[in-house]
Amino acid sequence: MAGDWWRDAVIYQVYVRSFADGNGDGIGDLPGIRSRLPYLAGLGVDALWITPFYTSPMADGGYDVADYRDVDPTLGTLDDARGLVRAAHEQGLKVIVDIVPNHTSSRHEWFRQALQSAPGSPERDRYLFREGTGDAPPNDWESVFGGGAWTRLPDGQWYLHLFDPTQPDLNWANPQVRDEFHDVLRFWLDLGVDGFRIDVAHGMVKQDGFPDVGAQEQHKLLETRPLPYFDQDGVHEIYREWRKVLDTYDPPRIGVAEAWTATAERLARYLRPDELHQAFNFHYLTTGWEARALREVVDHSLTAIPAVGAPATWVLSNHDVHRHATRYGGGPAGVRRARAAILLMLALPGSVYLYQGEELGLEEVLDLPEEVLQDPMWERSGHTDRGRDGCRVPIPWTRGGSALGFGADGSTPWLPQPEAWSELSVEAQTGVEGSTLELYRGALHTRREHPALGAGDAVDWQDSEPEVLWFSRTAAGRTLHCAVNLGPEPARLPAGTVLLASDEYEVDGSDTLLPTDTSVWWEA
Ligand code: GLC
Ligand code: CA
Repeated sequence: MAGDWWRDAVIYQVYVRSFADGNGDGIGDLPGIRSRLPYLAGLGVDALWITPFYTSPMADGGYDVADYRDVDPTLGTLDDARGLVRAAHEQGLKVIVDIVPNHTSSRHEWFRQALQSAPGSPERDRYLFREGTGDAPPNDWESVFGGGAWTRLPDGQWYLHLFDPTQPDLNWANPQVRDEFHDVLRFWLDLGVDGFRIDVAHGMVKQDGFPDVGAQEQHKLLETRPLPYFDQDGVHEIYREWRKVLDTYDPPRIGVAEAWTATAERLARYLRPDELHQAFNFHYLTTGWEARALREVVDHSLTAIPAVGAPATWVLSNHDVHRHATRYGGGPAGVRRARAAILLMLALPGSVYLYQGEELGLEEVLDLPEEVLQDPMWERSGHTDRGRDGCRVPIPWTRGGSALGFGADGSTPWLPQPEAWSELSVEAQTGVEGSTLELYRGALHTRREHPALGAGDAVDWQDSEPEVLWFSRTAAGRTLHCAVNLGPEPARLPAGTVLLASDEYEVDGSDTLLPTDTSVWWEA
């Protein structure tokens, strides 16, 4: 079923500025990605999601788009994009690109026109301009990056930006905005992409009347309920229109929602049959290393998402959060848990998102010097939140060289790589039994050939001690068991033929003694 490839796909996120630098200017780019396609194909992933590479002042790493139909000169050219998509397809890899519809860059032609036009003009109506009250902004909405969500112009009007002031929010009630994005979708679909990751998919529609939230630290409230600017029911109409565009291609192209919602049920609404195909499972990502909580989020996801006919998805890291090896405690213990976590995640039914560098066991870089920090969060938070640069440090490919192979020797990566990453490089781990890279390779290849890994939408939990997660899955006459020990003592399991384990274990007769923070796959 060529059109259904995404249902159990493993999708690898490439953060373009930090993956591979083709021309040695210190910034990752499209030719760099192209040169590493054989690595990705060999790793065993099915698709790439590439973060925005469009023309941008890079105030938010490219999530501030000035021209949706061109490539930023620091990252390549349109021809590079075309060549990359073609080369990926030749390697059997699908390509998903990011689309940023909630806001443009303030350097976008439309926003320039809006600034030059009068209050009430059609140019201003493409964005969300409002009058304040006296010197106060129109309402109490907060920017996700810190501070208020409104910026005032010299003529007195305010414009809304849920993120940085250089990212003005578009007015999705304006038909011109809707038409423009249909056209942008078609532009990239015609160029050959297989789908879109939709940035801030829960943000485009704002509640009528722009009511106050009446609280501070508002985006934390989103964990319990929609906000007047997030997860409004009106967004679904936009995705129904987008779905029609995606379905005009053969096989149909896919849409993946970056939607933060209070519950898995609210998330499932983005995945109804006439809307999008997948959404990131942030409820899974934000769950700690704790057996009961993990089991609950797995069960909850597998109840809510397949109920609308969509596959569940699983994700542990991306370019916006601390790397999970660090969230799980950091150091050797954190990495050990991260290794156990990948076998758990890859055994679950549905689709999996990996973030570049997790296959190397990379941890968050917590000690970047202040002067190199680029994430707008750092400034917007008044230097209290260091932001997201620590998960965006360029990938180490080789043991040696000034950029560890990220760029040519002699080049300087835009964020400094820790010295210890030399021994975590792709070169250092390749062919080394027990390395995290080889664990990922082995797991991804096993997942590809084993019918009980990936497909379907349910797991069969087995009786186990409370701190052990143990389930089985059966398909095409083969049963696969996955067990993870999150407790402090070794766990005894009847593991027959072990296919893969995240670390060493002991055998006692026909039993396996699974140490703490270790996972194992076996066939019964
Ligand atoms: C999404 C992106 C994030 C970006 C924000 C604003 O959350 O993942 O990196 O800063 O949207 O576009
Ligand atoms: Ca470059």
